[in-house]
Amino acid sequence: MTTRRDFLKTSAGVGVGAAVGMGSAQPLLGAPAIRRSAVTPVAIASGNGLEAVSTAMQVVSEGGDTLDAVVRGVNIVERDPNDRSVGFGGLPNLDGVVQLDSSVMHGPSRGAGAVACLEGIKTPSSVAVDVMRYTDHVLLVGKGAQRFAVSMGYDIEDLLTEASRQRWIQWRARMSNTDDYLTPEETGHADAEPPFEDEDTYGLGILDSHDGVRPQGTINCNIVNSDGDLSGVTTTSGLSWKVPGRVGDSPIVGAGLYVDNDVGAAGSTGRGEAVIKTCGSHTVVEMMRAGMSPTDACLEALRRIVAFTAEPRLQNADGLPSFNVNYYAVNKNGEYGGAAIWSGARFAVSVDGEARREQSAYLYQRP
Ligand code: GLY
Repeated sequence: MTTRRDFLKTSAGVGVGAAVGMGSAQPLLGAPAIRRSAVTPVAIASGNGLEAVSTAMQVVSEGGDTLDAVVRGVNIVERDPNDRSVGFGGLPNLDGVVQLDSSVMHGPSRGAGAVACLEGIKTPSSVAVDVMRYTDHVLLVGKGAQRFAVSMGYDIEDLLTEASRQRWIQWRARMSNTDDYLTPEETGHADAEPPFEDEDTYGLGILDSHDGVRPQGTINCNIVNSDGDLSGVTTTSGLSWKVPGRVGDSPIVGAGLYVDNDVGAAGSTGRGEAVIKTCGSHTVVEMMRAGMSPTDACLEALRRIVAFTAEPRLQNADGLPSFNVNYYAVNKNGEYGGAAIWSGARFAVSVDGEARREQSAYLYQRP
């Protein structure tokens, strides 16, 4: 008789486990039958994921597993010190500590894993895969997540780059005129750092609120292969200067990521609190199940965010959200789309041998 534990060990060794570690294309034990009609493979990601979609598509074109593909793709961005919204080089919390969130979902096995408030590990998405493969849990947080990662062989490293530390010091200095931290202008060290708006090249999300402009980055990447199998990953350093312990949407299954192998995959970037309150990515997938195109499903989920944004502090002069949220979605037939609350956002896509950025659909024209 096969026990649950035996099944987990076996499937980790033969299926996703082997695939993530070694690029095997073996089917998962116990996976539901997959559709065999030809689907044009598509990888879609947030605008900072051009390399990620290329890498993911390369992995599936070589017969690799879909989750292996998207995680290898986002690992590039997680390790990139110049992306200030994800992994190494991410902007820190209030205390100057980088805390990372990530979730993964593997369509064929219905597997999910996630980590939140993880410190010191450059690739939280890979740790999320290990939570899925090697535990009976879905979400590990904080010190427990870090101890688990160390037990799996990950090194603890300092994730705060000098550029991110400088940003944090400047934010701390500008927080108040009545404390003892001198602003960069007062010290004569106002440097050439561009305003955050200029860094938000892909419209991933800037919160323009009572305490100034704050970036909310993140990378989401979803893929469908030629068998119609799907996987997705979302990974982030979260909202800059957040209250220590704050968890955004990225590691919350159904919020920052959702995959149903019968329907499609969706993920988000931008203000996580708004996505959590509306079960965002799950909503997108359910709208696709009901027959909407990926783009229309993303727009409908964004309308719910607008309806749920009742706090005046989060509204602009027209009563509309003063933040951005983006959704990215692909369905089982290989149709894809992206949409944002505000115009100007872009997403990355790899399809038919070409990786490119496309304009996201939107609800409102940016003023
Ligand atoms: N969407 C990323 C975050 O809010 O943490």
